[in-house]
Amino acid sequence: MSDVILQAAGVHKSYQLGRVSLPVLRGVSISIACGEFVAIMGASGSGKSTLLHILGALDVPDRGTVRFEGQDLFAGPASRRDVLRNATFGFVFQFYHLLPELDVLENVLVPCMVRRSVAGWIRARSEHRRDACRVLEQVGLSHRLRHKPNELSGGERQRVAIARALANRPRVLLADEPTGNLDSATGREIMGVLGTLNRQGQTIAMVTHDPQVAACAHRIVTLEDGRIKSGRG
Ligand SMILES: Nc1ncnc2c1ncn2[C@@H]1O[C@H](COP(=O)(O)OP(=O)(O)OP(=O)(O)O)[C@@H](O)[C@H]1O
Ligand SMILES: [Mg+2]
Repeated sequence: MSDVILQAAGVHKSYQLGRVSLPVLRGVSISIACGEFVAIMGASGSGKSTLLHILGALDVPDRGTVRFEGQDLFAGPASRRDVLRNATFGFVFQFYHLLPELDVLENVLVPCMVRRSVAGWIRARSEHRRDACRVLEQVGLSHRLRHKPNELSGGERQRVAIARALANRPRVLLADEPTGNLDSATGREIMGVLGTLNRQGQTIAMVTHDPQVAACAHRIVTLEDGRIKSGRG
């Protein structure tokens, strides 16, 4: 598990509010090994989501680098970054962000659909369906394929979001407070799903406020004053 898959070095990020610059990340360096499960903790507003977004190329640092298997995520045009992001990362958010008018299977297929041309989608559709059914089975939702999000419990909605994040077989799964909207029993169930995925080899970086949730990870890093306070980083 010693091969570094994702590495941030000296990452700085500030937000501009009118004339005032709000520094959020002030030189964050972190290395994540292939197959590792890392939890990122820190107070509200400490920059956890900002860091996760930068690690997954959803946001751009002001300074510093992020490398995936040695490739600089932010080198070259934005289109290169978009391709790399779609091929590399799966995202899970606190509030699921499912499309309400689509059923479970269709929600999981959305990332595969947006990645392809219309002709490519028609050619690959049945293969993607098979993959989507496979990941839905992994998260225990084979019996809910035709349900709409409002016909699911919170835990089931988050399991759909995890399946959607897995649909493109991401190399790294990035989860921002995946249990933040769930009661503790359902949160444990979601951590069970993430733990199983990790044991099967999935690399995971997860933001959480909850020490019990963080304890499921191999390693905890804490953000404080824009830097990593503890852990090996
Ligand atoms: N788009 C933005 N424009 C201006 N300020 C922002 C923006 N996004 C985040 N911030 C500020 O940056 C700081 C870090 O935000 P971030 O969302 O990364 O924190 P967090 O650690 O994830 O917090 P929480 O635990 O509450 O989710 C906060 O003070 C926030 O107000
Ligand atoms: Mg956050």
